[in-house]
Amino acid sequence: MTRAVCPGSFDPVTHGHLDVIERTARVVADVVVAVGTNISKNALFTPDERVEMLAEECAQWSNVEVTPFDGLLVDFCAANGIDMISKGLRAADFSYELQMAQMNRKLSGVDTMFLPTAPQWAFVSSSLVREVATLGGDVTAFLPAKIAARTMARVASRNAGAAMDV
Ligand code: PNS
Repeated sequence: MTRAVCPGSFDPVTHGHLDVIERTARVVADVVVAVGTNISKNALFTPDERVEMLAEECAQWSNVEVTPFDGLLVDFCAANGIDMISKGLRAADFSYELQMAQMNRKLSGVDTMFLPTAPQWAFVSSSLVREVATLGGDVTAFLPAKIAARTMARVASRNAGAAMDV
């Protein structure tokens, strides 16, 4: 009975992420969506907010749970009885994802399963969504409706704060 983790920063969660979570939930017994912090990224939402948003979106799948994590992903796997990492793969991600998968396997023996990103979401990333939203573009096509609304509200309040600082 495979228990898989879908790790990510999910800042914010996109349709592409949810597609990968759903497809993973169809082929393994249990899925843990682990919300981490990518230290190289400037976050829009706090970890608690990201967990809350994901939990609401994932409530539709009975074998999916959402939890925060920090530290090494392989340590999280060992502590939570997880035997597989599941990730969506876009063409641009390939070499870095392969490197991480090989590092994680070397560190712990935990293997990574890659699911090709659905073609309709292949160009979508949270970083691009944040950039487009911050510069006033429409991101509603890439996010669940409630996440899009929260993203636009957060960007508007950030932009207003930045304008006050000038
Ligand atoms: O959505 P992201 O930003 O691609 O998610 C990246 C994340 C959080 C999954 C990745 O940075 C990660 O696994 N961090 C945990 C730290 C770790 O285990 N680093 C070694 C990776 S080989």
